[in-house]
Amino acid sequence: MDTPIYDFVKKYKESDMSRFHMPGHKGHKFIGCEDLDITEIYGADVLSMASGIIARSQSNASRLFYTGQTFYSTEGSSLCIKAMLMTVLMDARSQRKNDSQEREYILAARNVHRSIIDACALIDIDMEFLTYRSSNSICECKVLPEDIKTYFENIKKENLEKNIQKNYPIAVYITSPDYLGNIADIAGIAKVCEKYCIPLIIDNAHGAYLAFLECNLHPIKLGAAMCCDSAHKTLPVLTGGAYLHIAEKYKERFSEAIQRGLALFGSTSPSYLILQSLDLCNRYIADGYRQKLKNCINSVNKVKKYLKSIKISVMNTEPLKIVINTAKAGYIGMHIADEMRQYGIECEYADIQFVVLMATPENKRLDFDKIIQWSSVTQLLHKKNSIVPSILPAFYQIPKRRMTIREAVFAPSEVIDIKDSIGRICAEETISCPPAVPIVVCGEVIDKNVVNLLEMYNIKNVCVVSLVK
Ligand SMILES: Cc1ncc(COP(=O)(O)O)c(C=O)c1O
Repeated sequence: MDTPIYDFVKKYKESDMSRFHMPGHKGHKFIGCEDLDITEIYGADVLSMASGIIARSQSNASRLFYTGQTFYSTEGSSLCIKAMLMTVLMDARSQRKNDSQEREYILAARNVHRSIIDACALIDIDMEFLTYRSSNSICECKVLPEDIKTYFENIKKENLEKNIQKNYPIAVYITSPDYLGNIADIAGIAKVCEKYCIPLIIDNAHGAYLAFLECNLHPIKLGAAMCCDSAHKTLPVLTGGAYLHIAEKYKERFSEAIQRGLALFGSTSPSYLILQSLDLCNRYIADGYRQKLKNCINSVNKVKKYLKSIKISVMNTEPLKIVINTAKAGYIGMHIADEMRQYGIECEYADIQFVVLMATPENKRLDFDKIIQWSSVTQLLHKKNSIVPSILPAFYQIPKRRMTIREAVFAPSEVIDIKDSIGRICAEETISCPPAVPIVVCGEVIDKNVVNLLEMYNIKNVCVVSLVK
C-alpha cells in the first residue's frame, strides 16, 4: 500500500530546502523528529479540504476499514465527536418537516467520554440518557437494542395519546468498547435505529482494531452511520491520530457537514507527524497486521487464562484488554497498579475497583511475561472481604437536570467543596481522567448519590453554577 504523506515529507526532508515557513524550528533537531515536522506547504495538501496526498491516504484508510469515507483527525476522537454531533444536528435541521421549537437532543448511554458533553455545550444541543440496567462502575452502562426500542415506542405512544409532537432524538450515541472493555450489541441497536430512521453514532475510540479481527466487529460493518476511532489507542499511531468513518450509505448525506465540522473545531495547523503516522499505519495494516493481531490476542488470552486459573478475577472483555476486578478480592485498583509498577508494568487505568491493561501486537513477549511474574506475588492471591458492597454506592440514579448543558457551562460559576454541593447545579464536567467519564453532567443537580460517587473517585471539589444574589 502506498504512503503518499510519508513519502512527500521524506522527499522534502532530503531536498535540503531552506525552510522559510512554519514551524519555527526549521527542521533542526531539538526533540529529534523536527526534520519531519512540516506544515501545509506547497504540495503537502490541506487537511480540512484534502484533495492531494492527504485525500489519497484517507482513501487508503477507507478501503482498509471498509467505510464509505474516512477522515483523519490529528486532534483525537475528541475532535471527531464534535464534528459528528454538528453533522447530525445540521442534518436534522435540514430535514425538519414541522416548525417544532423543541430543542434537539442526542440519546446516549450514560458512560460517555467528556468530549460529547463539550460538543453539546459548543453546539447547544441536549442529551438524554438511557437509564442504567446494571452497572458496577461509571465506566460501563449496558444498553440493549430493546432499551432503545422501548424508548422510541414510548415517544410514539405519548405522541398518539396526548396528540403531541415530541421530537425523536437526532441520533443515538453509544460508547463501545468502553473503558472496561465491554462491547455493545451494535448490530442489534443499528437495526432498531434504522427502523426509526435515526443515525447511530458509535464512540469507537478504543476499537480501531476491531475491523481486523477474523470476524470484523467494527461499528461501520455492524451498521453504525458514523464512528470515531482513536488510532493512537490501539494501533501504532502517534498520540492524537484518529479516524472519523462514515458508512457508505450515509456518505453523501454527511460528508460535507463532517468536513465543515472538522474545520470548525479543529486547528488550522494539523500535525504532519501525526498525519505521517496515520499514513504509515495503512501500510502496517495492509502488511500482515491481521496475523499480528491474532497472535497478540492469543498471548492476551493465555495471560487471562492463567490469571483466572490462579483465581484472579479477570473480566470478559474485548480481546485486547485485560481488566482485573481487584475489588472482588478486597483490594483497591490503584494499590494493585502500584504493585504492578514495582514489577515494571504500567497500566492504562486503575480506580478503586479495576485495573485495566491494554495490549497491542507491539507488546513483546517480555511484557506478557512480566504480568505472569507479578501474578505470582500479588496481594490479590490473598483474598480479603470484597469491598464491593461496602464502598460502592448504588449505581446509579441519573441526576435531575435543571439547566441545559450550554447554559450551565457558560453561567457564572464557583468551585466548592463537594460536602457543600448537594442541591447545586454542576457547571463543569466532574471527572477523573482517565476515564474522563463525567459523574455529573453540566446542568444536572448534585444529589447525595453524586457526592458518594465523587468521594469514591477521590474528587474533593466541584465547579457549580453561582447562586443568583
Ligand atoms: C471512550 C472515549 N472516547 C473518546 C475519547 C477521546 O479520544 P482522544 O483522546 O483520541 O481525543 C477517549 C479518550 O480516552 C475515550 O476513552
